[in-house]
Amino acid sequence: MKGRINNTLETRRLELRPWTQEDVAGFHRLWGDPAVVWWRSPTGCIDDAAQELVGILTRCDAMPAGHGWWCVRERETDEIVGNVMLQPVVGDAEGVELGYHIVADRWGEGFATEAARALLNYGSLVLGLRRIVALVHVDNAASAVVAERLGFEDDGPITHAELPHRLFVWTVDGRAGVDHWEPPESDWP
Ligand SMILES: CC(C)(COP(=O)(O)OP(=O)(O)OC[C@H]1O[C@@H](n2cnc3c(N)ncnc32)[C@H](O)[C@@H]1OP(=O)(O)O)[C@@H](O)C(=O)NCCC(=O)NCCS
Repeated sequence: MKGRINNTLETRRLELRPWTQEDVAGFHRLWGDPAVVWWRSPTGCIDDAAQELVGILTRCDAMPAGHGWWCVRERETDEIVGNVMLQPVVGDAEGVELGYHIVADRWGEGFATEAARALLNYGSLVLGLRRIVALVHVDNAASAVVAERLGFEDDGPITHAELPHRLFVWTVDGRAGVDHWEPPESDWP
């Protein structure tokens, strides 16, 4: 079954909800910033956010049910502070990719960790995914910190989008000493 995501996840400070066509300004603030986009595509800063957003929503429609891109909104301020995604890996690795992107002037506040943790819990508990990967550019230290903090393990080098990355892997089976893994209640979306 395919279809656009329609669910909302809440964390202590954030709401993760599907992007809509009304989010062009917030989408552009994130994806129009070279500091954010560089790690995905060094030349790929978007010009036409409205068109790009439609393209992303169309791509999400074609993904397996429950997969897609979520807009990350700070609940207190109503500000769009980022994007998180669960999507089939495009290209060089297998499985489902967890991705996280935060607007540059809000880096270092723990938003990526908080949002990505909620999506990881959702992916494993609700979608039943047992293996999730993160593709981290070799120079992207902040992203590696987030992945490791979420329990991903470095599985070695991989070329992704023609750039040197490291493949980080999270598996339910990799949770040490537990047959049936559940996140701590405080981490539930
Ligand atoms: C990677 C990214 C999502 C992190 O977002 P964030 O909200 O700042 O992340 P968090 O605050 O949850 O955690 C980041 C951690 O990395 C640490 N960090 C940041 N820069 C670092 C660096 N150069 N070296 C080592 N650690 C670094 C931070 O100090 C923080 O750890 P702390 O909480 O112990 O201080 C953000 O930098 C970003 O959007 N980058 C561009 C897009 C991107 O690279 N996405 C990931 C693609 S795989």
